[in-house]
Amino acid sequence: MSQPPTSPDTPGIALLEHVNINIDKQNRNESLRFYSELLNLPPDVRRVEHIEHLGERTVWFNLGPSQMHLPKGTTNQRVRGHLGMYVRDSKSMQQLKERFVSTPYFQSETTDGTHADQTAELVITGPGGNTFKFRVIDDLVSYESRGTQFSAGQSLLKDDETDEVKCLYGKNPSAVEVIGLECVHFIVPKGAAHRIGAFYNHVFGAETMSMGDGATQVAINWDGRMQQSLIFSEVSDSLPDYDGHHIAIYLGNGPEGYEKAYNNVEGLNLVWINPRFSDKVSTLETAKSERQFRFKNIVDIDTGETIYELEHEVRCSTHPSNSSRM
Ligand SMILES: [Fe+2]
Repeated sequence: MSQPPTSPDTPGIALLEHVNINIDKQNRNESLRFYSELLNLPPDVRRVEHIEHLGERTVWFNLGPSQMHLPKGTTNQRVRGHLGMYVRDSKSMQQLKERFVSTPYFQSETTDGTHADQTAELVITGPGGNTFKFRVIDDLVSYESRGTQFSAGQSLLKDDETDEVKCLYGKNPSAVEVIGLECVHFIVPKGAAHRIGAFYNHVFGAETMSMGDGATQVAINWDGRMQQSLIFSEVSDSLPDYDGHHIAIYLGNGPEGYEKAYNNVEGLNLVWINPRFSDKVSTLETAKSERQFRFKNIVDIDTGETIYELEHEVRCSTHPSNSSRM
């Protein structure tokens, strides 16, 4: 990493909490089958009644401590790149592959170099053209401790008499294969990656690392237990237009770090209101009361030039939806 860990006045990014992709109503059945049956993602019980209305109402699917948010849209939105996801173990990877292998979503698999019968990476392209890459998480113990914490609140269904966990987010927790969001990998224009890294470092105090070949990784650590990242990788081809998908991140260092990040974004004139959502933050006071704010443009911190469009929903660790507080 090119920069030291977070300092008292720079929060760092604690969690990549959700990726928001609109679902076209015309694709609702296909999308429902993809996310609920094939990926087997458990819905957040706070929106579970929306499942039958995917494409008309927003559905949240859990990915361990993170989520996919799938609201209604006029088109299927597509991340320009791919999403990396953690799978519980090699047995789960096999189950996932077997569900997908005879579907049109299956793209490829890479087998383990030492175990030819085990899948190291599974590549799937779902409805709307979003690509997902799956690999087995290295440290399941870390996930389990997080998962228990996350499930301690309203998303956990227990037997009233025995207090036994009956159901996690509507599904048997041990039957869920995909347990985390590892990364979102964005393709960006030539010459952009290192400048995007400088932006995240300047605004959030995030650690960044050059991956070579015009790619920069922005590190995200949730209490150091589940490693996540944003990756920006340069391509020569022209990019598809930005279609409005967004990501949500939680910052570290509590309200102090959050306020610092807000001031950094405001100092670059980037604070932005998305008219679609109820949070209308344009001042530090409203940023404090909402405990989140938004910006859409990533800029060169020296020139102010817009390098990349990507809406960010930036949340304070005290935000009521923070899964670590449930
Ligand atoms: Fe969001």
